[in-house]
Amino acid sequence: MNIVQTPEVIGAHVSEVDLARVSDADFARIEQTFNQRGVICIRDQRLSEAQLIAFARRFGGIEPHFLKHYTHPDHPEILYISNVKKDGKDIGHADAGSVWHTDMSYVERPPRATLLYALEVPMDSESGVALGNTQFASAAAAYDSLSPETKQRLAGLRAIHQVAGRRAKTGTGQQDQALRRDQPAVVHPVVRTHPFTKRKCLYVSKGECEGIEGMAKDEALALIDQLAERTVEERFRYTHRWRVGDLLMWDNCAVQHLASFDYQWPQHRRLMHRVTVGGSVPF
Ligand code: SIN
Repeated sequence: MNIVQTPEVIGAHVSEVDLARVSDADFARIEQTFNQRGVICIRDQRLSEAQLIAFARRFGGIEPHFLKHYTHPDHPEILYISNVKKDGKDIGHADAGSVWHTDMSYVERPPRATLLYALEVPMDSESGVALGNTQFASAAAAYDSLSPETKQRLAGLRAIHQVAGRRAKTGTGQQDQALRRDQPAVVHPVVRTHPFTKRKCLYVSKGECEGIEGMAKDEALALIDQLAERTVEERFRYTHRWRVGDLLMWDNCAVQHLASFDYQWPQHRRLMHRVTVGGSVPF
């Protein structure tokens, strides 16, 4: 197995390994790289649904997704991320990640990791270049870049996370009321400590954070915006250019991510299997 760190502050590419039969020693190296680099791509995989789920389980219990209508009929652990339509209907979640965010920060125990396995990748027919890149930004490097005064100001602050906040902003959720009822807001520290590396990470996003406990709304939103913008500055980013067979994994404490939508149904097809691994209460 070969592991190469990308030149960016996050990211690593793993090759020459078959995740369907990875040894304990190789798994330990993958997990260590994952914890240290925040996002890793394991190339050239041919995984059945059961093999993908079994690999994900080595990182922890699988977290079911609330969008039940987009889950695999035989493997509810898998959420389809796709722009493919069948009988005029989306077969999967077509606009996951249209704003910078970290997965499911609006639950009490946000997932440790998200795995996205590429089955179909859209290509520009003229240039042959892959479309639908996914960008990542290091929440740990962003925290490190803050001044001592700002770090001190943030210590002990807790932000309010609400799923419908982001959906309302992107205009994709018609059922905001139902979402608010089903997923009540939760509070998490504005600065989270990574449970494995112990690095401090900024943990706010513009879409899902609606306020900060004990702070006036205007002041809180201005601070959230400032921190969210700092997190995704160019210098902290890695852009993933997809290939079929890529298994990409990201750490929902250490990085934020953003999907791109430069492809269009029906000329472009994008199909991914997503599995989410459970995490712990942020501290
Ligand atoms: C996601 O945010 O879960 C999906 C990212 C992507 O589709 O590129």
